[in-house]
Amino acid sequence: MKFFVDTADISEIRELAAAGVLDGVTTNPSLIAKTGRPIRDVIKEIGQTIEGPVSAEVTAIDFDGMVAEGRRLAGIATNVAVKVPSTWDGFRACRALSQLGHKVNVTLCFSANQALLAAKAGATFISPFVGRLDDLGLDGMEVIREIRTIYDNDQAFTTEILASSIRTPLHVKLAAMAGADIATVPPAVLRNLAKHPLTDKGLESFLADWGKAGQTIL
Ligand code: E4P
Repeated sequence: MKFFVDTADISEIRELAAAGVLDGVTTNPSLIAKTGRPIRDVIKEIGQTIEGPVSAEVTAIDFDGMVAEGRRLAGIATNVAVKVPSTWDGFRACRALSQLGHKVNVTLCFSANQALLAAKAGATFISPFVGRLDDLGLDGMEVIREIRTIYDNDQAFTTEILASSIRTPLHVKLAAMAGADIATVPPAVLRNLAKHPLTDKGLESFLADWGKAGQTIL
């Protein structure tokens, strides 16, 4: 499973890219707004920092507006994936933008049927929002499993499942087990994947014993 990071914070992206764990970046209007910078500058900088896809979301909600904004966003960097919402106009825009040769990420997906429509519209990525479904007491991971089954049933579908709204390390593990192609993860959660108290405890005792032995390796 590939890792994308879900942030528009360029310093976080640079640090994670340097660690070699980043396959792509996702942003959304809320994350861009948080930077306080123009979307064009932010997406351009991210696009120059990483080689993988950088999702940038349209804010128009009508077909013509989405296509116009999508074309503008796609022109910012060659690795931009245009994000459109899981609505009728969004699926139409997905088809139009895909036919123009752009990568499209269909976002705000909360059901397997929306994912089915996105695949039929030629989406590059489908983004089911696991955490927001869990917030309602539903099982977000079940939607990932359903989409996996549907996409595996039709070899013509090439859309990748991008598990989104990931809130915990458990979400990452379950998404990988459910067959998601990619998980987009907030930076703090990504770092937490490496943490285990027994690793820290074990390291501490090994180093204490090594110190007493008075040896060096180099
Ligand atoms: C995905 O592309 C979205 O930006 C993101 O995963 C939303 O996550 P949230 O539900 O934590 O806001």
